[in-house]
Amino acid sequence: MPLPNDQGVQAIQTGESVEELKAAAVASLDSADSIELLESWRVGFMGRKGRLTALLRGLGSLDIEERKIAGASANKLRSELELLFEERVNQSKSSEALVGSIDISLPGRRPSLGGLHPSTQMIREITQAFNEMGFQTIEGPEVELEKYNFDMLNIPADHPARDQWDTIWVDDDTHNDILLRTHTSPMQARTMEANDPPIRVVVPGKCYRYESTDATHEWHFNQVEGLAVDEGITFADLKGTLYEFARRIFGPHRKVRFRCDFFPFVEPGVDMSIDWNGKWIEILGAGMVHPKVLENAGYDSTKYTGFAFGMGPERISMLRNEITDIRHFFSNDLRFLTQF
Ligand code: DAH
Repeated sequence: MPLPNDQGVQAIQTGESVEELKAAAVASLDSADSIELLESWRVGFMGRKGRLTALLRGLGSLDIEERKIAGASANKLRSELELLFEERVNQSKSSEALVGSIDISLPGRRPSLGGLHPSTQMIREITQAFNEMGFQTIEGPEVELEKYNFDMLNIPADHPARDQWDTIWVDDDTHNDILLRTHTSPMQARTMEANDPPIRVVVPGKCYRYESTDATHEWHFNQVEGLAVDEGITFADLKGTLYEFARRIFGPHRKVRFRCDFFPFVEPGVDMSIDWNGKWIEILGAGMVHPKVLENAGYDSTKYTGFAFGMGPERISMLRNEITDIRHFFSNDLRFLTQF
């Protein structure tokens, strides 16, 4: 009879080999998926009357050489099974804890979907109205140079109009001319500097002012700037374009009023109001591009003319949606945001 190895050892009493026992124990452990089943596995294999215990007992009837070999592999199996058992118990405990914390009988619910911010929705509606009239949407930097925000727009350092734009300056060791743009108008200068006429652009974007906040003022907000420059553009083009815009945003029968206003970068300058429940509400500033602004950008002001306008989308949204406080837009309150 060949010397038995650990593959072939028969436990006399049970007739089961270490190999067979191992395969059976592992398979049955794998399918024990509750603490109760794991406990009966433990009793069935490792308990006092269990199969492994029986196999170990059976070793006594083997002769000494066989017992050494079979004993070693049976003991090895015991520690393997103990380890596997412990792992399964831990696994099972954590998945039972999970099941306990989730009510699996609850019906499925759709995850809530995000949406576009009300400012974004308004900006898109405004820019689309102008896109359909041939204006291209572009964007520009929020951290801007004094040159574009003020100087090129005919607002020199000592001009009293600078007081209108309470500026947040960017503190920098090497520069003292960097700021957070106070309006989107600097993109007029940038666009003309980089392009030849004809130009028709709208520029949405964020602006910043060092200003205390209240129901109608925020220290950051959006604006949409517009610029059209070409040969032969007149004030009638300005009026026609902005009239059409007001009708698209506020309805086809909306009454519109233009009044004189002053902005250093336009001449003449106007503001446009719409009739809102019998009251005139100002919604934007506009004007014919000042010849100095055209020249600052390198354009021949005897050949080219243009108009520009600027508006606050939050203000327009407030009007249309009867929002009473501009601070709602940036306070991230879902009760407000989900109404749009
Ligand atoms: N930049 C102005 C502001 O912040 C708004 C404005 C007025 C823009 C007249 C224009 C304009 O382009 O022509 O108040």
